[in-house]
Amino acid sequence: MRHLMSPLDFTTDELYDLMRLADDIRENRQKYAKACEGKTLATCFYEPSTRTRLSFEAAMLNLGGNVLGFASADSSSAAKGESVSDTIRVISGYADICAIRHPKEGAPLVATSHSGIPVINAGDGGHQHPTQTLTDLYTIRSLRGEIGGLTIGLCGDLKFGRTVHSLINALVRYPDIRFILISPPELVVPSYIRDDVLTARGIPFTEVKSLEDAMPELDILYMTRVQRERFFNEEDYIRMKDFYILDKSKMELARENMLVLHPLPRVNEISVEVDEDPRAAYFTQAHNGVFIRMALILTLLKEAGTL
Ligand code: NCD
Repeated sequence: MRHLMSPLDFTTDELYDLMRLADDIRENRQKYAKACEGKTLATCFYEPSTRTRLSFEAAMLNLGGNVLGFASADSSSAAKGESVSDTIRVISGYADICAIRHPKEGAPLVATSHSGIPVINAGDGGHQHPTQTLTDLYTIRSLRGEIGGLTIGLCGDLKFGRTVHSLINALVRYPDIRFILISPPELVVPSYIRDDVLTARGIPFTEVKSLEDAMPELDILYMTRVQRERFFNEEDYIRMKDFYILDKSKMELARENMLVLHPLPRVNEISVEVDEDPRAAYFTQAHNGVFIRMALILTLLKEAGTL
């Protein structure tokens, strides 16, 4: 049974296949409108979500399938003390594929060992968020033509931001990628990314504090929200939350073809005035999430022999 826990679960060739399928789906919506008729996706979300859960559900509905699930731990039997393993064992009898989000790192992986259906990690704590990475890669490829030869600035909460961890893991497999990691010293990337991924693979990167200084060098700026829910105390969060605010004046320092990405939700880190800038690609990125998730659901169900 094939699951998706990390973006590395797919080779770069398999990722290109997925992106080509997403392109075909985007161009021929009708062709796929009944592709998952009679199949069901379960969304088990133990943490808040708007885009990830709803884009999964939209993806399955666009494929003619059904959806069921829960949107918070409070509304599931987790509130009564049920384990993830028991929940997934039962859901395997109700659905054909499951997307799971959980505040604990590794919870979706635990689910895979008790699951009779493909499990997709829809975000586990501060660890990984592979389907956001598929969305990010798909957006980069759609807007830049290629993934490679890019200087990518990752800015904000690089410590707790799981989207950043997954994206770095995925991008180091493409040619000629360079990173500028922009964060306050308290929120730098964890060593399992810096040492075990970037340094170990000889990927060029710098760690800096100033967004202004980095701006002129970037092909892509990936902004992130300070992850309030993962802070140990509110004071630290308040001190850190408005450290970076991307506004019109900072955009003037950037290249004409730089792209601004953000997994969303945004809080204050991108001022709304930037939304009108043609380089702001974050809403397109959110829209792309539906097509790539449709491609993922189709691919995993086919591999499971369900389709
Ligand atoms: C991200 C997440 O949940 O990690 N959101 C999303 O899925 N698009 C980013 C975030 O919450 O900051």
